Amino acid sequence: MFAEDPGRGDQLVGEAAGLYLDYSKNRVTRETLGLLLELAESAALAERINAMFRGDRINTTENRPVLHIALRAPRDASIIVDGENVVPKIHRVLNQMAAFANQVRNRSWKGYTGKPIRNVVNIGIGGSSLGPVMAYDALRHYSDRALTHRFVSNVDATDFAESVRDLDPAETLFIVASKSFATLETLTNAKTARAWLLTALGDRDAVARHFVALSTNAEEVRRFGIDTDNMFGFWDWVGGRYSIDSAIGLSLMIAIGPEQFAQFLAGFRAMDDHFRSAPLDHNLPVLLGLLGIWYNDFFGAESYAVLPYDTYLARLPAYLQQLDMESNGKRVDLDGSQVDYQTGPIVWGEPGTDGQHAFYQLIHQGTKLVPCDLIGFLEPLNPSGRHHDLLTANLFAQAEALAFGKTTDEVGAEGVTESQIPHRTFPGNRPTNVILGTRLSPALLGALIALYEHKVFVQGSIWRVNSFDQWGVELGKVLARQIASELEEPAEPTLAHDSSTNALIHRYRAARPPS
Ligand code: F6P
Repeated sequence: MFAEDPGRGDQLVGEAAGLYLDYSKNRVTRETLGLLLELAESAALAERINAMFRGDRINTTENRPVLHIALRAPRDASIIVDGENVVPKIHRVLNQMAAFANQVRNRSWKGYTGKPIRNVVNIGIGGSSLGPVMAYDALRHYSDRALTHRFVSNVDATDFAESVRDLDPAETLFIVASKSFATLETLTNAKTARAWLLTALGDRDAVARHFVALSTNAEEVRRFGIDTDNMFGFWDWVGGRYSIDSAIGLSLMIAIGPEQFAQFLAGFRAMDDHFRSAPLDHNLPVLLGLLGIWYNDFFGAESYAVLPYDTYLARLPAYLQQLDMESNGKRVDLDGSQVDYQTGPIVWGEPGTDGQHAFYQLIHQGTKLVPCDLIGFLEPLNPSGRHHDLLTANLFAQAEALAFGKTTDEVGAEGVTESQIPHRTFPGNRPTNVILGTRLSPALLGALIALYEHKVFVQGSIWRVNSFDQWGVELGKVLARQIASELEEPAEPTLAHDSSTNALIHRYRAARPPS
């Protein structure tokens, strides 16, 4: 295709909100792209986009609007939910967050003993953790290095123990992040944190200086013992996996400061504006979404890899796993009918160049098709000798090698023995998107997250699934509660599970120390 259409490397590209997308190394002709755009039109994608921005209740199973885009709307915007413009209350919370973040940053927020806070521990899980930890890691370069940030998510006590083992309770602030304030893992960790604090400081009044909450559920926050003056709210129309730019971003705001956080939101907004206004054929989230559908539904690709050539973006693949797989991992459409096509893909990845020395072998020469997004920056944040040139050379080289491979003739011409030739041949034709920004910054990170948020929405719209509910996580939660009581109750419980689950429970109980 490159031989027939030499201009495609300059033409099958796009730019928005500071991000450059080269999608020329995909298995598409201009005709394919035209047909995919027709698919988007036949799914009334433009109308779906308008419906989301308008605040229609597009999360149909929960009867809610989907308005993460409101979280980054300018102060003077008007977005109406149930007759109320929600933008002023969003900015009220942003102001409240900024006032608090500044107090922690300038060390005027003191712990119970009068020592300033130096450690900030976010306790949350899923969208209440993956966004904060990913964004903190990504923007660490811009953070106050005198503050220590930790993120506790797993109900495994090791997570908490290892996160706080070197921290002084008198200098530690816990941010309990939970949209529902009902999540077992988060509440268990928060109670353990409260006990850890009280063991050291000895007075229940200490909780008010060392705990704040990020939630939509004031009643449960109060019940836990956190003063609702120290609660930062958001609303049911913000999905957990779409919440890093809400109050859930408080730990990030403390790390990088309110001004840089405002830049972060501006980056989201720039991508929102592009998504809302650019024609579909120049619209980066639409193009990425359609290319993903091309491989997912027409080539049987089961997954795609996100490969950031930037160590700061190490947690981006994990963040995108929730964003994409919890949104589009659905098997019934909006009407509840079973779909007869593939929906959401598996997302995975690791930073380059580490991944190159681990799993790229399979992407180059394996039997599976794994489309890849390669993400990099023109300028390094930590310039040092040749490092950045070498890093970027590897990104470009991988995209080239994956696309063009190496033929048996080329390998043969190198004088390789006949028997070695198949092993050293690269089939090529392995698709990549290359996403480049000038420099990783708060604004660029915001734009990058919004790019993927909207890409996922484009795909969900075309697959006609509800990208904003997550019923698939409920069954395991209910069973875990029941099994927890069966593991813990002193008298031998009557088990009514399958024989495998019953045997596992018996085995665990047999090993439990007598209570
Ligand atoms: O895993 C399910 C889920 O509901 C996610 O969607 C959400 O991000 C996470 O749990 C945490 O929920 P919460 O913020 O209510 O504690």
